[in-house]
Amino acid sequence: MKNIILTGDRPTGKLHIGHYVGSLKNRVKLQNEGNYEKMYIMIADAQALTDNSGNPQKVRDNIITVMLDYLSIGLDPEKVTFFIQSEVRALPEITAYYMNLVTLPRLLRNPTVKSEITMRGYDSESKGIPVGFANYPISQAADITAFDANIIPVGDDQLPMIEQAREIVRSFNGTYNKEVLIMPEPKLPDNEACLRLPGLDGNAKMSKSLNNCIYLSDDSKTVKEKVFSMYTDPNHIKVEDPGKVEGNMVFTYLDAFSSDEDFKKYYPEFNNLDELKKAYSNGGIGDMRIKKFLYEVIEELLTPIREKRKEYINKIPYIVEALEKGTKEANEKADEVLDRIKDALGIRYFNKEFIEEQTKRFNEEN
Ligand code: TRP
Repeated sequence: MKNIILTGDRPTGKLHIGHYVGSLKNRVKLQNEGNYEKMYIMIADAQALTDNSGNPQKVRDNIITVMLDYLSIGLDPEKVTFFIQSEVRALPEITAYYMNLVTLPRLLRNPTVKSEITMRGYDSESKGIPVGFANYPISQAADITAFDANIIPVGDDQLPMIEQAREIVRSFNGTYNKEVLIMPEPKLPDNEACLRLPGLDGNAKMSKSLNNCIYLSDDSKTVKEKVFSMYTDPNHIKVEDPGKVEGNMVFTYLDAFSSDEDFKKYYPEFNNLDELKKAYSNGGIGDMRIKKFLYEVIEELLTPIREKRKEYINKIPYIVEALEKGTKEANEKADEVLDRIKDALGIRYFNKEFIEEQTKRFNEEN
């Protein structure tokens, strides 16, 4: 079987280096390996509106913000079909049919949805849960299945969404007794440290409001300030003191970002991260030194990204054209799959089969 890759992001802000190791890096790798029939990346503006209904301008502004992040890391509109979710009309229609296959308690049991409900205060008396928000895992199942996607490169926070999509595929194919929908598989990063990168301050979540992330679009000076303010080991006071590696954000980040090449280039006293960790634990390595190294490692990643961004920032018309072209292709594909879904449900009426079938039925009755 030929692979169809699909993934996407909500356009609610700039992407950060947690997004990069969690999913974006994998996308570039998959793109360059070329082992696919089609690779789609969707800007999930309709999903973004499920918890930003009062702020559509934010969603609108971040379409290009997110596209610039995509293009500057090396995703290429010649190889990837970029499209905008809300411009694919088949998606809400497919969502509507899937809504009959999922119970309300099942939706609210979704761990990602649950934590988002708490985070957004939807469990408070004054707010309540918007129906569209509770429903977004079903809509995400439509996003995935409408393109016959079998590989979904995502961060591990999205696993409950893929699981929900898999349940819907099983239920749909089971109920309508046909191999109509393709079963999707998540594709996570190989490096465990990349699964869930914490904030610079050690907080489990990176977020704009906590101001604890490094953005792909940050300049050198900002990156330097952020790295040098990172949380390390509070008991590692003097350089000679033994230091703790576990829970030390500099090492957590080095686990995710550094390579042996980086050591050769920026820290030749050590061959690899294991050696540095050992030395740090024994004492004698200052926090400034490891922060300097991490800063260099991150700069190694971000420098070419910044170069590419400069190129694309002057090409907004090109970006919009690429999105328009991709969205047209996406519509063609999703319309096809919608027809297949309606066929399976038996709700296509304006054809010879339906007329003959019903004529026969009523003839037999007489
Ligand atoms: N839920 C994803 C996020 O918050 C965005 C998304 C929407 C998505 N539809 C998708 C991801 C389909 C993968 C596949 O980032």
